[in-house]
Amino acid sequence: MSVSYKELGLVNTKEMFAKAVAGGYAIPAFNFNNMEQLQAIVMAAAETKSPVILQVSKGARKYANATLLRYMAEGAVAYAKELGWEKPQICLHLDHGDAFETCKSCIDTGFSSVMIDGSHLPYEENIALTKQVVEYAHAHDVTVEAELGVLAGVEDEVSAAESHYTKPEEVIDFATRTGCDSLAISIGTSHGAYKFTPEQCTRDPKTGKLVPPPLAFDILHEIEKKLPGFPIVLHGSSSVPQDEVDTINAHGGKLPDAVGIPEEQLREASKSAVCKINIDSDSRLAMTAAIRKHFDENPGHFDPRQYLTPARENMKKMYVHKIMNVLGSDGKAA
Ligand code: G3H
Ligand code: 13P
Ligand code: ZN
Repeated sequence: MSVSYKELGLVNTKEMFAKAVAGGYAIPAFNFNNMEQLQAIVMAAAETKSPVILQVSKGARKYANATLLRYMAEGAVAYAKELGWEKPQICLHLDHGDAFETCKSCIDTGFSSVMIDGSHLPYEENIALTKQVVEYAHAHDVTVEAELGVLAGVEDEVSAAESHYTKPEEVIDFATRTGCDSLAISIGTSHGAYKFTPEQCTRDPKTGKLVPPPLAFDILHEIEKKLPGFPIVLHGSSSVPQDEVDTINAHGGKLPDAVGIPEEQLREASKSAVCKINIDSDSRLAMTAAIRKHFDENPGHFDPRQYLTPARENMKKMYVHKIMNVLGSDGKAA
């Protein structure tokens, strides 16, 4: 049975993005696939009164179950209100949609925004696919994110060994012909907890930690000049906090040389036309670090609430930090 996101109390990204671009901040797009992540995201957004994008990949939708997800999203809005957030600004977004049918299925089951990721396709095919999704989505008042340029690392089921930065000379043609509402670009971010190889980094002489190469802000600024005020999206924007990696490694984990995007660079990007910043790996790390530590310190525990409570708290702390200290979206949905 199909349902519109409007019946679930969700919003699309139109107004969120317009305000974010004008106000020089970015909306957090946090991936989730389970109840604890969702609770932590809603708690953080409600506490900080930040607009928020609940982001679900095709794999996460399969994991959680599409029907359950529709009710989880509706529950998220009700829970946000119960927490004292009178007018929650919550968007449910498909991350890395791979085909028209996936996007249509999400739109028909309560999503307020979808991404169609044709970044791996030849340019004209990317345009044709994106346009097809835009036509269906806009008929349902659902917003569409498209992608131009390829990120290194894993793009959901699409694997890219090398990144190909977005070509600024293509963005006007692409945005005009597809009618997309926002554009994900490639300027050096990548997915996962290993964004750069040690060879691509330098080492901080004091700490010995890896320092990644800077993002290509020159390309971002060129794109901004070509499409003034157009919403830009950054994928692969986890910072891979060293303390979480250290906690995981100190409690039996093995994440050598994990490295992310420094938060100062994301703060800088948030002030530009970048109005949506995708974060998934940092949530995975926060959850895993708390659970590993808990198990190590409490070998007798086996009630999931015992280890999922600190995991949820740790994720919420991370989400609040991102909203307040990195993206600057706090108080923007008061
Ligand atoms: O961009 C990819 C997201 O982190 C989602 O990852 O496909 O493993 O759910 P996933
Ligand atoms: P991270 O792996 O850096 O968290 O990126 C997530 C993402 O881009 C989801 O689309
Ligand atoms: Zn992504």
